[in-house]
Amino acid sequence: MKIEIVPSILSADAGRLTEQVKEAESAGADRIQVDVMDGHFVPNLTFGPLVVEVVRRATSLPVEAHLMVERPERFLEEFAKAGATLIEVQVEATTSLYRTVQTIKELGARAGVAINPATPVDDLREILPYIDLVNVMTVEPGFGGQKFIPHSPEKLRRLRAMSTDVEIEVDGGIDARTAPLVVAAGATVLVAGNSVYGYKGGIAAGIKAIRDAVD
Ligand code: DX5
Repeated sequence: MKIEIVPSILSADAGRLTEQVKEAESAGADRIQVDVMDGHFVPNLTFGPLVVEVVRRATSLPVEAHLMVERPERFLEEFAKAGATLIEVQVEATTSLYRTVQTIKELGARAGVAINPATPVDDLREILPYIDLVNVMTVEPGFGGQKFIPHSPEKLRRLRAMSTDVEIEVDGGIDARTAPLVVAAGATVLVAGNSVYGYKGGIAAGIKAIRDAVD
């Protein structure tokens, strides 16, 4: 199973975003993730559809919009129009997850659901057959550069036991040390912010360090 590395732009230099995205693509990134935060669902305020458009224009890679926002159903059309190829919503942030997932797919994007560290994977049982990806948050969402939550691999194993088809993505604290742990537990899509854009040796070296750790 191919392991995909997905730099998230939260830790990138926003003043040079196009350049930073292109650098990640040249270094072998598989997708780019835009960490959308509304200051309500998480205590941070970041990007909207305009930034997804910037990323869309900067790369031919798939662009994921991770909506860490209350009632994400309000914004699906804008993010799809901005060019997101996959839209992921937090299971905790909507009371109409089935309809939200259907709408994402009707808009022509792939559908993902993200779950926070304290949310049980069992909460996904009924929606699993309808989604392309689950993002298992391996930190409490809101900021880059946080510490990987140690119980995450056992949570990943429980999810993988529920579905062998769904893509399992992880997000938060993923680097050369933690990447092998999550891949061994069933993750195949690795979101990496600080370990790529904050890597002392630069973006390409950051991606290579993770790639080498899981190959
Ligand atoms: C939620 C953010 C982060 C970011 C990756 O807090 O969405 O998870 O993508 O963060 P790091 O820097 O830990 O890879």
